[in-house]
Amino acid sequence: GRLLESDGALAGRRVLVTAGPTREAIDPVRYVTNHSSGRMGVALAAAAWRRSANVTLVAGPLQVPVPAGVRVVPVESTQQMHDAVAAELPEADALVMAAAPSDFRPANVASQKIKRGAGALSIELTPNDDILAGTRERRRDGAVIVGFALETTDLEANARRKLASKGLDLIVLNDATEPGAGFGVDTNRVTFLTPDGAVAPQALLPKGEVADAILDRVAALLAARGV
Ligand code: CTP
Ligand code: CA
Repeated sequence: GRLLESDGALAGRRVLVTAGPTREAIDPVRYVTNHSSGRMGVALAAAAWRRSANVTLVAGPLQVPVPAGVRVVPVESTQQMHDAVAAELPEADALVMAAAPSDFRPANVASQKIKRGAGALSIELTPNDDILAGTRERRRDGAVIVGFALETTDLEANARRKLASKGLDLIVLNDATEPGAGFGVDTNRVTFLTPDGAVAPQALLPKGEVADAILDRVAALLAARGV
């Protein structure tokens, strides 16, 4: 197998990972969500645990089992995920934000089940806060922050904008139109973008190997910063 000098760099480090979609309530029985399964975040948490990191997984509703040895903080909504990340982040040496939080929630949550009526139903959606941007001041000095970007057009330009606006050390770009990459599959083809302008396309790999490539970058950055 692979053996890198930076492999030991995550031992004992606190690694905070987010995974999965969120659910935004419409009424007591219905919600708004997306196709995220949680596979990429779970693969990251498992890979970090294999490197002897102290792993916390903030998880929306997952379609895959959570890895053994990982402390899980279950959440449902984007607001709950925001609050959980804000609470955990001050202790984290690295944050890997693999979740797909819903960008919107219903403006009003009906307290009773909405009944079928004669005509159409409109649901007004209001924007959720950006978790990465909104928790910036809670990051430890030197903490390594990784985000993802799921794009269908202008892939690199959009990812680079997110890298800067969210204050990231690394963004993992996913092309949502490519087969074998993205939601619900066990493989992923990603591109790494960094603040130095570098663009590093990765091979189509099982999500566990994508996770290891991401953690190699995290470990190298922590080692370089002396964290
Ligand atoms: N993210 C976040 N808070 C949100 C939405 C997304 O922190 N409310 C994080 C994701 O976990 C991911 C990164 O931001 O690491 C980019 O998510 P993405 O959905 O690609 O970007 P958005 O900023 O939500 O922009 P858009 O969906 O409009 O492309
Ligand atoms: Ca989004």
